[in-house]
Amino acid sequence: MSTPWIAPSILSADFARLGEEVRAVLDAGADVVHFDVMDNHYVPNLTIGPLVCEALRKYGITAPIDVHLMVKPVDRIIPDFAKAGATWISFHPEASDHVDRTLGLIREHGCRPGLVFNPATPLNWLDHVMDKVDMILIMSVNPGFGGQKFIPSALTKLKEVRERIRASGREIRLEIDGGVKGDNIREIAAAGADTFVAGSAIFGAKDYRATIAEMRAEIAK
Ligand code: DX5
Ligand code: ZN
Repeated sequence: MSTPWIAPSILSADFARLGEEVRAVLDAGADVVHFDVMDNHYVPNLTIGPLVCEALRKYGITAPIDVHLMVKPVDRIIPDFAKAGATWISFHPEASDHVDRTLGLIREHGCRPGLVFNPATPLNWLDHVMDKVDMILIMSVNPGFGGQKFIPSALTKLKEVRERIRASGREIRLEIDGGVKGDNIREIAAAGADTFVAGSAIFGAKDYRATIAEMRAEIAK
């Protein structure tokens, strides 16, 4: 399995000081910046777009930016995010009319494509595209808000996806998003996740470094 990545979700950062906040979590040991894009249409909340991604790059953030698109339609925003410096771009299959085309579009624009599964989205969306995804993101909350409670059925799903990844023989990151904390991350890692999004658990903590270190120690147990 790949080395574990901690991906703080900037949804819970102080947006008035976003650049500093992102730098602080990266200095504290985070691997990736998780960037939640919500459109008040696919999900009932509105957040940030390519302009903010570009601003983080201009501010000097060089770490991978993991864009989680919670938008519908999907395709027309992809070139803008690629231009703005996104590294990974993941989307919800039911928000795209042509999943295979959207995956191809992300790769054509030089980014790494991912598919996101809501708690009730079936995994058969993966059936014919395992050769085209570089990341599979399992939602352990319904998308739209930070600070929600982890839905335990995500653990079963993680195990199933880990098996599918193994069978594919490809290197695919398996990410978990929603309600991830120091006290459940060990169980989540044991179920097969290697990329851990945490918003409120990291940005809500006083000491980012200690929180990230505690998460890593739990994963390694
Ligand atoms: C929810 C977002 C998550 C969210 C996670 O729709 O995709 O990334 O920020 O927040 P926590 O870690 O607080 O559940
Ligand atoms: Zn997210």
